[in-house]
Amino acid sequence: MAIVVRGGTVVTAEGEQRADVLVVDEKVAAVGPDVDAPAGARVIDASGAYVIPGGIDPHTHMELPFMGTVASEDFFTGTSAAAAGGTTTSIDFAIPNPQQSLLEAYHTWRGWAEKAACDYSFHVAVTWWSDQVREEMGVLCRDHGVNSFKHFMAYKNAIMCDDETLVNSFKTARELGALCTLHAENGELVYTLQKDVFERGFTGPEGHPMSRPPEVEGEAANRAIRIAEVLGVPVYIVHTSCIDALEAVTRARIEGQRVFAEVLAQHLVIDDSVYLNPDWDTAAHYVMSPPFRSREHQDALWRGLQAGMLQTTATDHCCFCTPQKRAGRDDFRKIPNGTGGIEDRMGVLWHHGVRTGRLTPAEFVAATSSNAAKIFNIHPKKGTIAPGSDADLVVWDPNLTRTISAKTHHQNIDFNIYEGMEITGNAAITLSRGMVVWENGELKTVRGRGKYVNRPCHAPFWASQNLRNAQDTRKPIVREG
Ligand code: URP
Ligand code: ZN
Ligand code: ZN
Repeated sequence: MAIVVRGGTVVTAEGEQRADVLVVDEKVAAVGPDVDAPAGARVIDASGAYVIPGGIDPHTHMELPFMGTVASEDFFTGTSAAAAGGTTTSIDFAIPNPQQSLLEAYHTWRGWAEKAACDYSFHVAVTWWSDQVREEMGVLCRDHGVNSFKHFMAYKNAIMCDDETLVNSFKTARELGALCTLHAENGELVYTLQKDVFERGFTGPEGHPMSRPPEVEGEAANRAIRIAEVLGVPVYIVHTSCIDALEAVTRARIEGQRVFAEVLAQHLVIDDSVYLNPDWDTAAHYVMSPPFRSREHQDALWRGLQAGMLQTTATDHCCFCTPQKRAGRDDFRKIPNGTGGIEDRMGVLWHHGVRTGRLTPAEFVAATSSNAAKIFNIHPKKGTIAPGSDADLVVWDPNLTRTISAKTHHQNIDFNIYEGMEITGNAAITLSRGMVVWENGELKTVRGRGKYVNRPCHAPFWASQNLRNAQDTRKPIVREG
């Protein structure tokens, strides 16, 4: 089956050109002016629109078992909602319980994801340490296309990993050419602050950000980055939400350390006033970690994205409906942490990023797709529009306006954190590996059509060679007697 997308402006991270895109079966076959359409090809008119690579959300949690419940969005509903917003690939997380085999967790998540409508991959979390974990990291890299491992520095008494685990895992990842990703919050501090805040009488959602101030995130980000510096291993900080963490990332990058960082669309546009809402349910909808921050932090995050200190944008899509949030009605510590937004990430970033002049269309493509593809080593299969790439394409209409609402979204959650936000710039048509999955405001996704994306490990030069400890030429002192 062939499709020609005609007359649009093709945007990749490298720039823009007026070009047609020929899709044959699941791949891009040609990009250029006036490409020949084979007989019988469907022609999609993209005049007046941009044609961009399908978005890649490098941080999602479909059907995650967490805090005594399970995220409401499953791999089919979640990847379908993603397609409605122009995202065609998601990287989710397989998270073993402490003492559980990493391979077992990986296979469990692979099973759940078989219903996915669009392509997906998995980071695997390291939640404990043993020789078995070391060996399984190798097996996952060599045989299962996993090139990134997640470390939760928070969630004490659950999935938090200590410094000993971080060090062991980082060393193993360095040998494998894998990337260590981090949820950077000091879990010990969160634990004690939660107790203090609760005992002071703050039992509602407003207690959540009080127990997770920016310093808690900054400390953990800096600790992880410093450990990585000593061990010469690249790291990736997920959901960077504050100046403190951004400064740790920036310092490391300008010193030549291979450090990457992600920002969530919601942290860029929603501030911490949401926790003061007098309606408990509405305030609880925004309970996620790290929490929403003040405007000052938001402004810094935008600048970090513009400056290239933050390379990727994600959602941490982790949906819990209102009745699930109510588990913490009397104690904010029991409100399941997580917010949704996979459908809205691209539109929110276009509206608040491109339309405000903060990002060019090419920078938008880099931040929503190409950079994630490069960092997680699936470029140019994903993240660009070039002959041989997967035909994950979006006809992006810069003039299409919609008001975000739970009444009209496709996400399996009963509220939307962007409720009422009017955005201009949206996916008119989305193709996932050559198949039209979103068109005329209608989803055409097929349960189970999504494929697992193998992500090979990086080449040897990936690990840092130029760090102080790697250059250490000192010899042990030989002493007499
Ligand atoms: O609050 C959040 N972010 N929930 C999902 C798990 C995580 O920390 O990423
Ligand atoms: Zn996290
Ligand atoms: Zn997450």
